[in-house]
Amino acid sequence: MSDSSSIGAIETRIRELVHDYVGVNGTDAPITPALRPMFHTVVDQALASSEGGKRLRALLTLDAYDVLAGAPDSTQSRSVRTKVLDFACAIEVFQTAALVHDDLIDDSDLRRGKPSAHCALTSFAGARSIGRGLGLMLGDMLATACTLIMEDASTGMVEHRRLVEAFLSMQHDVEVGQVLDLAIERMPLDDPQALAEASLDVFRWKTASYTTIAPLMLAFLASGMTSEAANLHCHAIGLPLGQAFQLADDLLDVTGSSRSTGKPVGGDIREGKRTVLLADAMMLGTAAQRVQLQQLYEQPFRSDAQVHETIALFHDTGAIEHSHERIAKLWSQTQESIEAMGLTAAQSQSLRKACERFLPDFTAER
Ligand code: IPE
Ligand code: IPE
Ligand code: MG
Ligand code: MG
Ligand code: MG
Repeated sequence: MSDSSSIGAIETRIRELVHDYVGVNGTDAPITPALRPMFHTVVDQALASSEGGKRLRALLTLDAYDVLAGAPDSTQSRSVRTKVLDFACAIEVFQTAALVHDDLIDDSDLRRGKPSAHCALTSFAGARSIGRGLGLMLGDMLATACTLIMEDASTGMVEHRRLVEAFLSMQHDVEVGQVLDLAIERMPLDDPQALAEASLDVFRWKTASYTTIAPLMLAFLASGMTSEAANLHCHAIGLPLGQAFQLADDLLDVTGSSRSTGKPVGGDIREGKRTVLLADAMMLGTAAQRVQLQQLYEQPFRSDAQVHETIALFHDTGAIEHSHERIAKLWSQTQESIEAMGLTAAQSQSLRKACERFLPDFTAER
């Protein structure tokens, strides 16, 4: 299937699933009429927040399954492929839940080119505290919905329990990761090596877990691979790829444009986020540059001019270039792990292409 037809199928199914699992069909009666408008606004926001993603996780799930299982040639294999589409959408619904919560945590007001969920809900409610509360609950509603979608879609499959457990463990890992991401904010800046190592470790939890490892795990299990083999290969491929993806996302926050990312640019610097880029700049910079960075990051917030000053330091210290090198190394590890699966040349190539989507600006020759 081409990317655009896969994305079409994914979009249609996500809309149906969010409508059915977050929606309130038949439940209007018990809700007091005066309270309905706010409830409906939250449900509408679930649909609005679900739109506009790149669908990288869903595409990886479908492609990895197709590589392993081959073209569906019977009614039974077609029915499994339909279930795998729902697994792919369940991960995307989880992604939306995670992003709604992430924007509350990071105080980001733009997501997928539109006001983030809690900002849109604040506009509706006319009060920031209510808008943030509604955002929190919307994230919870989407998280419950994705679990139910996964449970229902895998019912009846031999791998049912293992699939649901993998999905729940993915959710748990991201929750741990977002806590650890906040813990990093309390790390001192005087040991940049420790900061870089801690950040890369957090990438495993908060990003690789659900972005690359879980899509591969669900696809491999659904294709009939043993749990041991699925676990081994999804981590070997997904961990470096997911880490590279988060490094690339952190880079885009500095070098990208809001128009292409749909997110605020320089947001990580403005809020003083401890990133691998910052750690690299501290490690690679001169003593004077280190002091400059330390002073910039001692302030509670950085002005626009200070954001630009920090970006210039990231370039001048070689931190940006070093992140590119880190990504290239992790991408090599991903490719080696694909080779180690012992697939046919055509299968390896298809899986590599599916993984390459996560790093569109980084895998081509520079
Ligand atoms: C954003 O992921 C969150 C990260 C893990 C960096 P994506 O860049 O895949 O976001 P969407 O789904 O396309 O909006
Ligand atoms: C990844 O981190 C977020 C999740 C695990 C949901 P970021 O905070 O960098 O993601 P963006 O940049 O806001 O999309
Ligand atoms: Mg964020
Ligand atoms: Mg975040
Ligand atoms: Mg980011």
